[in-house]
Amino acid sequence: MSMLHLVPTSSFPPAAAAPALSVDDLCVARGGRSILRNVSTSFAAGAVTVVVGPSGAGKTTLLNVLNGLVEPTSGDVFATELGPLHGAESWAALRAHTATIFQDHALIGRLSAYENVLLAFAESRHPLSLLPWPRFAREAAAKALEEVGLLDRAFERVENFSGGERQRIGIARALSRAPRLLLGDEPFSSLDPPLARRLGDDLRTLAVRKGVTLVLVLHQIALARALADRIVALNDGRVVFDGPVETFDDAAEQMVFTPPPSNRKGC
Ligand SMILES: Nc1ncnc2c1ncn2[C@@H]1O[C@H](COP(=O)(O)OP(=O)(O)O)[C@@H](O)[C@H]1O
Ligand SMILES: [Mg+2]
Repeated sequence: MSMLHLVPTSSFPPAAAAPALSVDDLCVARGGRSILRNVSTSFAAGAVTVVVGPSGAGKTTLLNVLNGLVEPTSGDVFATELGPLHGAESWAALRAHTATIFQDHALIGRLSAYENVLLAFAESRHPLSLLPWPRFAREAAAKALEEVGLLDRAFERVENFSGGERQRIGIARALSRAPRLLLGDEPFSSLDPPLARRLGDDLRTLAVRKGVTLVLVLHQIALARALADRIVALNDGRVVFDGPVETFDDAAEQMVFTPPPSNRKGC
């Protein structure tokens, strides 16, 4: 049973949904090695895209390009409202409405759940300030905790929470700033499969209801199938599958996990 009580929402965005974000002929090389090779794909606004692929395929690198942590060697990233992202200013604009859910939660154990969510607004208050947090931040933090079903435990220390509950707090923190783009790099990998599924379902429901564009890297294919509208698969730095989840059949899955031929050309 879901801990959230949400009205079910249609899972698919309109067919004509514009991409919130797209990448075109993206190449990333590090230390003389190609990590991403000619990657072109898009992430539809308000939809859930799940990136899958074997370990070392470049999934984390792709996500880190989207959040501005990794600079592409060549190629472009476009955001619908910002155009091609060139220069610090446009990346800062994208980051301002992007949030990330971390695998390790990145929470502070001795602080309460509520205080951990408030840290999303750290720039709105001096760290040593004795003044209360601004009202808008307090309201957003309380609402986000309510959305993940933890408002009644808001003032308990995070160290007393279970792994799944901590992940909910991490999700609340990510959602509290009302992002338009939400990224997660294997956010449920420390949880057992049934709990990962429950949390994934809840995250999907929240993202769809809020119209947030969600991009998740997941290594469990069953979970990817359950949560995705669209699957993008990488193998050895290349896109080897990109399509609606219904078309990601067993043959596609097998192909994604087949070792690629060596000495392939490309960037
Ligand atoms: N900064 C870096 N310098 C050199 N190699 C890197 C760097 N970052 C990642 N890699 C390599 O690139 C490949 C893809 O990494 P990653 O994107 O983390 O893959 P995945 O998330 O699919 O497992 C791996 O072989 C990794 O070792
Ligand atoms: Mg990774």
